[in-house]
Amino acid sequence: MRTIGVIGAGQMGAGIAQVSAQAGYQVLLRDVDMARAEAGKAGIAKQLARAVEKEKIEAQAAETALARITPISGAEPFASCDIVIEAATEREEIKRAIFAEVGKVLGHKAILASNTSSIPITRLAQASPDAARFIGVHFFNPVPVMGLIELIRGLATAPETVKAVENFAKALGKDVVHAFDAPGFIVNRILMPMLNEAIFALGEGVANVRDIDTAIRLGLNHPMGPLTLADFVGLDTCLEICRVLYDTTGDPKFRPAPLLVKYVEAGWYGRKTGKGFYDYSGDEPVPTR
Ligand code: 3HC
Repeated sequence: MRTIGVIGAGQMGAGIAQVSAQAGYQVLLRDVDMARAEAGKAGIAKQLARAVEKEKIEAQAAETALARITPISGAEPFASCDIVIEAATEREEIKRAIFAEVGKVLGHKAILASNTSSIPITRLAQASPDAARFIGVHFFNPVPVMGLIELIRGLATAPETVKAVENFAKALGKDVVHAFDAPGFIVNRILMPMLNEAIFALGEGVANVRDIDTAIRLGLNHPMGPLTLADFVGLDTCLEICRVLYDTTGDPKFRPAPLLVKYVEAGWYGRKTGKGFYDYSGDEPVPTR
């Protein structure tokens, strides 16, 4: 593989573009318009500059990596890609429209991958030109820091597709785990019930935001408490994942906490909107409950 396409220049897409460019791949980065794709690249430039400041990478290496990233618009340029990774909003109709559009220009050996957190890969593959060359490639936030990629094979994903993407993931310096296409795959199946339960506990008045986070951070040695992590992932994304888990299994254990629904309805999505279980408008996050 030499050229990687990334669709979505937000938190995840920009991270994927950055680690791919740092590993030596050419990257085409697209979002809904050119301005957002350019903004994604500008964000990556900042991340790389910070890494240079901290003496984690050489200035020359940062410059070379940045030069490998080309913001684009439209789908035609993806015809030159060996793999196109979709990291758009976690909504099925948006992803399906992207696969249909990119599918029209995708090379006959190229792979189409989705960074979906929980939407079934087998179902998404139906919107792609070839289910054998469709796979789930699940990165974790922040992408440059987190060492894992979860590979999810759909019912029709070919073993060669899995192998090629595994080699790519390893070239990015990540460890790989394999999951079959089951709701939530491995990580979110286990993570989301924990975050959701923390929100139930908050809603039921078991403890306040700070104590729930401190309990899990110090009691279980997690780097972030569950409410901080939910804000970090995005409460809208957490709710979408809980709903997919609930809808695809029918199991009530996955029902979203009413307080999570309420916060999302209020537009409190966490860090990205400046408010969730914490208010991020000041120097330090302040609990909202
Ligand atoms: N981009 C790049 N690097 C970042 C970063 C970012 N957004 N945020 C932090 N870092 C780097 C810092 O530069 C620092 O690097 P250094 O040690 O080499 O100097 C290192 O990460 C540690 O950062 P800090 O010292 O500022 O802060 P912390 O020690 O508190 O670590 C954290 C921050 C790495 C985010 C840590 O709190 C953590 O690991 N949290 C858990 C994250 C997690 O669980 N992610 C998975 C979410 S689930 C998911 O993504 C799946 C989806 O489908 C929902």
